[in-house]
Amino acid sequence: MQQFIDHDDFSTNHSGNEEFNTLLATQVSRRTILKTGVACSTMTFFGSSLIGEVAQAKETAKAVAATIGFKAVEAGTGDKIVVPEGYSYQVISRWGDPLFADSPKWKGDATESSADQAKQVGDNHDGMKFFSIDGKNDEGLLVRNHEYINPDFIFPKGVEVAGAGWNEDWVKKSQRAQGVSVVHIRLENGKWKPVLDSKYNRSINAHDTEMVIVGPAAGTESMKTNADPSGTKVIGTFGNCGNGFTPWNTYLTCEENVTDYFGSLKEGGAESTTHMKRYGVSSKDSEPEYRWETFDKRFDVAEEPNEWNRFGWIVEIDPFDPTSKPKKLSALGHFKHENAAVVIGKDGHVVVYMGDDQRSEYIYKFVSKNKYNPNNQAENRGLLDEGTLYVAQFLDGDTKGDLQGVGKWIPLTLESVGTNGKPLSETFKSMGELLVHTREAADLVGATPMDRPEWIAVHPQTNEVYVTLTNNSDRGSDKERKGMGGVKHPGVDDANPRVKNPYGQIVRWNEKESDPSAMSFTWDVYFLAGNPKVHPAGDLMAGTENITDKNLFNSPDGLAFDKDGRIWIQTDGNFSNKDIYEGMGNNQMLVAVPEAGDRKGEIRRFLVGPSGCEITGITFSPDYKYVFINVQHPGEYGKHPRAPKDVKPQDDPLAFSKWPMGDNEDTENSGGRPRAATVVIWRDDGGVVGA
Ligand code: FEO
Ligand code: CA
Ligand code: CA
Repeated sequence: MQQFIDHDDFSTNHSGNEEFNTLLATQVSRRTILKTGVACSTMTFFGSSLIGEVAQAKETAKAVAATIGFKAVEAGTGDKIVVPEGYSYQVISRWGDPLFADSPKWKGDATESSADQAKQVGDNHDGMKFFSIDGKNDEGLLVRNHEYINPDFIFPKGVEVAGAGWNEDWVKKSQRAQGVSVVHIRLENGKWKPVLDSKYNRSINAHDTEMVIVGPAAGTESMKTNADPSGTKVIGTFGNCGNGFTPWNTYLTCEENVTDYFGSLKEGGAESTTHMKRYGVSSKDSEPEYRWETFDKRFDVAEEPNEWNRFGWIVEIDPFDPTSKPKKLSALGHFKHENAAVVIGKDGHVVVYMGDDQRSEYIYKFVSKNKYNPNNQAENRGLLDEGTLYVAQFLDGDTKGDLQGVGKWIPLTLESVGTNGKPLSETFKSMGELLVHTREAADLVGATPMDRPEWIAVHPQTNEVYVTLTNNSDRGSDKERKGMGGVKHPGVDDANPRVKNPYGQIVRWNEKESDPSAMSFTWDVYFLAGNPKVHPAGDLMAGTENITDKNLFNSPDGLAFDKDGRIWIQTDGNFSNKDIYEGMGNNQMLVAVPEAGDRKGEIRRFLVGPSGCEITGITFSPDYKYVFINVQHPGEYGKHPRAPKDVKPQDDPLAFSKWPMGDNEDTENSGGRPRAATVVIWRDDGGVVGA
């Protein structure tokens, strides 16, 4: 979801926990520590051997350096996709395309009803996974998130959200355009096509799909509603951002900005609790693009104060069983989930890394109670129902300026002791209630606030973990923080040159002995994005040395490794191409080799997207000869400086972008609206993409 209209940019964390960027400015060189053997407070805290042990593990876990084989594309502001020379692409499966053999065709004027939308591909594609059928590279299930809707495009001219022409069916259409779709696709005569009569095709959406809640929060008081007094069943999923997938072939969809959908019609607003404030739930109107509470009572927090607790989870879906009920996995925590990076620990436990995408929120990991059995996939089905959730604490290593340090994982259990010296059981009466209040529990144990954690990806050879911290426009005033009963934020007024962080960064960590189940790690900044064209050399705003005038970008977001260890980085940032963003152009995708030489290897631009879009969602065919990506919200401009002047988007939806119309489409009825779509890219010589 792009930053000109989204809401994940506001901080609701007023815990006063120490800010990560404050730590960046107060660091010591790990190399210095290792060379001199100087004991520091952090080493004492961890036991003196930790830093050396992890550093040694890093040496032994070194990967074979991957290479990049394509010629970089230039930054651009066109209304089209640009890929490197020697590559081709195809636009597939746009919002509104048929999902089934009997689906209505796309009309182009958005007059489709909610019933029509239920049979068409949803809007604003985000995280996605290609599940191969029988190991094939040319046939599989494309499982995709549809994160949100653009009211200017999805409703016909004259329909105003909660205003003129608004009715219950528009609410339903909005709900049915969000969630997850499963589309069977196949390569035929050089073109990817949907298999419309496939038994697998499915719309899992916010209005129609029954789900079960599993794990400790199932059945707790905070999960009970009038419609579900058991607290174990819920209708729908929405705000589906990034994704994950398991070795037992299930899909994980991550519910992110779910608080935007709740509000109240009650005069003067509903009661607002501390819990609602901590997550950013409004007691008055929901965000202006949704307003579901106008026709659907469960989104009115005065009528159903617990309904919102039932969203903001990770949901597990079996795409190969179209009758299966998706499962909300409460053991993985309740927050604004970005994505889920799944990896198996050395002892067989399943580890899931997760970010909470809002300003100054935290990074989490889940470790399953039971072990993965590679020989019995059916037995693995419940592995994410039970385990321990941890939150990360990043520590600076005691000296300033080297952008590296050490960290640890703090368990969120009833026995865990908070920074106030009291066990969490004094605050939460059960593990289920603790998980519903994940953010509050993490506040109590002193987790480290981060610059909006987006996607996390794990290096396939070294287990090193990378996270995009997309940006942090403003850490909030002391006044704002005090209004929430919090203490002065240590990041505010700090001398840290990136207290305002418009560009974002990637931080990476290496668990002790490269074991995902470990409880401590070392970390460093892989890059600080920046702009050396407008900031003086040496200034942190210019970015780290791997940022040059050839690869300028801001706001890294989507992230994935390929099999060789190349890392694919997608952006959702400011595409004004002006001022501090000069030379960056539209949102884009880059490929990097983090393992080269000094381990800050080259970052090279692979793709540029059309006007107004973000590039997100990434998945590969099993042979890595096809890469699929999503173009989300083309043509969306909000208050953007490059927005067409004096035109309301609803009056002229194509004013800023016509994409994908005219850009390599091969299907009929493409006009009328800019449309989110998937793009599949391949090398003309049939080689591995990126290599
Ligand atoms: Fe949906 Fe944080 O991006
Ligand atoms: Ca340091
Ligand atoms: Ca994102």
